[in-house]
Amino acid sequence: KKVVLAYSGGLDTSIIIAWLKENYGCEVIAVAGDVGQGDELDGLEEKALATGASKYYCADCKEEFVNDFIFPAIKANAVYEGKYLLGTSLARPIIAKKLVEIAKKEGADAICHGCTGKGNDQVRFELTIKAFAPELDIIAPWRVWELKSREDEIEYAQARNIPLKINKETNYSKDKNLWHLSHEGLDLENPANEPMYDKILELGVTPEKAPDKPTYITLTFEKGVPVALNGEKMNGIDLITALNKIGGENGIGIIDMVENRLVGMKSRGVYETPGGTILYKAHADLEEITIDKETQHFKYQVSQKLADILYNGQWYTPLTKALLAFIDETQKTVNGEVKLKLYKGNIIGAGMTSPDTLYSEQTASFGEDEDYNQMDSQGFINLYGLPIKVKALLDQQRKK
Ligand code: ARG
Ligand code: SIN
Repeated sequence: KKVVLAYSGGLDTSIIIAWLKENYGCEVIAVAGDVGQGDELDGLEEKALATGASKYYCADCKEEFVNDFIFPAIKANAVYEGKYLLGTSLARPIIAKKLVEIAKKEGADAICHGCTGKGNDQVRFELTIKAFAPELDIIAPWRVWELKSREDEIEYAQARNIPLKINKETNYSKDKNLWHLSHEGLDLENPANEPMYDKILELGVTPEKAPDKPTYITLTFEKGVPVALNGEKMNGIDLITALNKIGGENGIGIIDMVENRLVGMKSRGVYETPGGTILYKAHADLEEITIDKETQHFKYQVSQKLADILYNGQWYTPLTKALLAFIDETQKTVNGEVKLKLYKGNIIGAGMTSPDTLYSEQTASFGEDEDYNQMDSQGFINLYGLPIKVKALLDQQRKK
């Protein structure tokens, strides 16, 4: 029997290799998906092989992650529950897709992941696996083994000489990629606690520690996709990396929230999404002048629906495909430049231009204007106000 394991090198997946071999007598192929978690990937190959994997793959998912997941999310302005920019939700489907590819190539019988039975990630992984390989078995050790806590895991690892690098105090449950870094667990589990930002933050600083001088940036969009920073053309990976740095330094994109997980519970987390927060803001601002009113309003509803289904792991579904097609249609005119001022956690608009702008200075201005005849308003208001007037007259009659 052969099992492909979603491998991160963290505590869970380290002991899972040993556990799989003990319990299934199978060969374990460790697969890390590189979605931009940087030095977290260092030394993973040695570690996987040293702890019993027969083979290690590092699947580079970065480009696809940006082009096929992050850019669509920006175009859609997809935000879960008004706050969460979906960093983990967007990365899971691409990682799972790679797991399936490697499982097929290796002729594996099953895919194993280290998600707990209490979270969203298990759902996201498994829905994607089912979408591409309905025949594969799925093994989720957390749902079946007798280990109940991190302490149990550490004991299990120590008994088998599995090396662990754990710093108890900063041992939050984290998920890092090009788009974000999430933190859950420990003191954050009590919403009464203020997050210990000085200990938690890795991508940036708190607004208090940001410079006293603002930083100006300009972003260029083509069809809703960011293509240049300060006039310099960049691919998505470089652009997001650069914005993470600038945003992080200015204390931008720190979110503290209690969210509703798909599996029913409320959970508290801290997210760092500096670059993403800037991109969402710039993009949404540009849409204000480049998308017509009715489309813009309808798009809000689509954004919300998309955020929910992406959070819930339903990337590879007909509905997602259809909604993304709608989003793409709306983005044809989302071209132009947005200037922003970054200052102590704030992103402040500093002007924008577009070749597709629908904004008419002449019409909007308080002065003379050819297209807009103020007399037209009288008839408009009479018809628009007709139901209100009819109701008011009826009320008056009844009072008599
Ligand atoms: N709560 C967030 C989400 O559901 C983040 C999950 C982070 N996952 C992790 N394995 N640490 O998308
Ligand atoms: C996990 O439970 O494995 C991480 C958190 C989540 O999936 O929501």
